[in-house]
Amino acid sequence: MQALILAAGKGTRMCSERPKVLHEIFDRPVLDYVLETLEEIGIPGPVVVIGNGASEVRAFLDAKAKTSRIRAVTVLQREQKGTGHAVMTARGALAGSSQDVLIWPGDMPFLDASTIREFLRRHRQTRADASVLSALQSEPKGYGRILRAGGRFYGIREELDASETERRIQEINTGVYAFGRERLFGALRSIRPQNRKQEYYLTDVIEILARQGARVEAFPAASPREAHGINSRQHLAEGTLIMNGREIRAHQDNGVTFVCPEQTFVAPGVRIGRDSVIYPWCYIESGVKIGAGCRIGPFAKIRSGTVLGDDCVIGSFVEVNRSKIGNKVLAKHLSYLGDARIGDGTNIGAGTITANYDGKDKHVTRIGKKVFVGSDTVLIAPVSLEDGSRTGAGAVLTRGTRVRRGCVVAGVPARPLSKRR
Ligand code: UD1
Ligand code: CA
Repeated sequence: MQALILAAGKGTRMCSERPKVLHEIFDRPVLDYVLETLEEIGIPGPVVVIGNGASEVRAFLDAKAKTSRIRAVTVLQREQKGTGHAVMTARGALAGSSQDVLIWPGDMPFLDASTIREFLRRHRQTRADASVLSALQSEPKGYGRILRAGGRFYGIREELDASETERRIQEINTGVYAFGRERLFGALRSIRPQNRKQEYYLTDVIEILARQGARVEAFPAASPREAHGINSRQHLAEGTLIMNGREIRAHQDNGVTFVCPEQTFVAPGVRIGRDSVIYPWCYIESGVKIGAGCRIGPFAKIRSGTVLGDDCVIGSFVEVNRSKIGNKVLAKHLSYLGDARIGDGTNIGAGTITANYDGKDKHVTRIGKKVFVGSDTVLIAPVSLEDGSRTGAGAVLTRGTRVRRGCVVAGVPARPLSKRR
């Protein structure tokens, strides 16, 4: 199976300088979700049709190739004359006539790998020449409608070209198809831009094939939540909610409490241990790991690269970024902890700030076990506080300060008060 992603469109409804497929959901481009799911089903080298914002999309794909196994091949569609035209452009890049082609619009980020696998299984099982992944949407507005006569699928009608009756159809086209290559390119020769948008519609291929007696199938295997395209800023915001809801439900199933799921944001790719409680108005970025029995928020931001042990409390207005934090660490109020390494049982006083950035480079703050950091301490990194040490309220630890085991420092700049307590 080869895959073809359509990502050249203007995205007119986004009203944006940025190509539509590079708009982000949880800090990741919409296109990235499609690429990752394709890789998950064993297609790490899709062909991607690009056009609008081609250089930006290409730069994104190049960066992706450096950080993952995904190696996309790009094809340039100079003028965007429709989805059918986009596929025609990619003909040369889709080598080997024996393989079927999986087509996927770059603005459909939520389809699960399991749904696509099931779709392809049914495509193969029925030996269809063309299969369409459909979904039942209670609000089908904007999507192409699946046309059936006596239950038999025979075509797709775009919203703009649909009659009143056709508009009431709730089975919609996700824009994901599986085609026999020869059949596809044969039928594409016959499509004409005779529609309201005057574009070459890929969807017209279905009626052409059905008329030729080819076997065409529509499988309603996608859930309404998955079949959500991103065409506007509203869709983008709804997309974030869809993804958030999916992630939070999965964490709930694993034993995590969300006091108010609707007011909490958890990106995909987060791990949270059992019996942790997430209070409202938290934002947890991708890649974060939180241990068991933690309490997070309200109003906490936990950023990528952060690992929290068990039984920690990250309280209100605390931001934690790229930090490794042990067990039973308390940072209950108003702190910024960036590039910090913090040992078990340490208490971070209210208002503690790691000044990790000197305007040029980022530096690490090392805080040992059972350290007591007094309120309003500023830690100008790199600094280190060894096990059992303390800082007085308002202390400013200048660059390079090392507070030895059990020592207390205070003042501006902070100096030792006594060797040992
Ligand atoms: C398309 C389908 C519609 C389906 C919907 C679901 C057609 C005619 N309609 O409508 O039936 O319900 O997707 O996702 O296919 N693109 C190109 N080059 C072009 C035009 C589009 O690469 O010349 C790309 C776009 O970047 C986008 C994808 O194709 O990623 C779909 O195009 P879009 O304009 O969003 O189509 P829809 O109106 O959503
Ligand atoms: Ca679309």
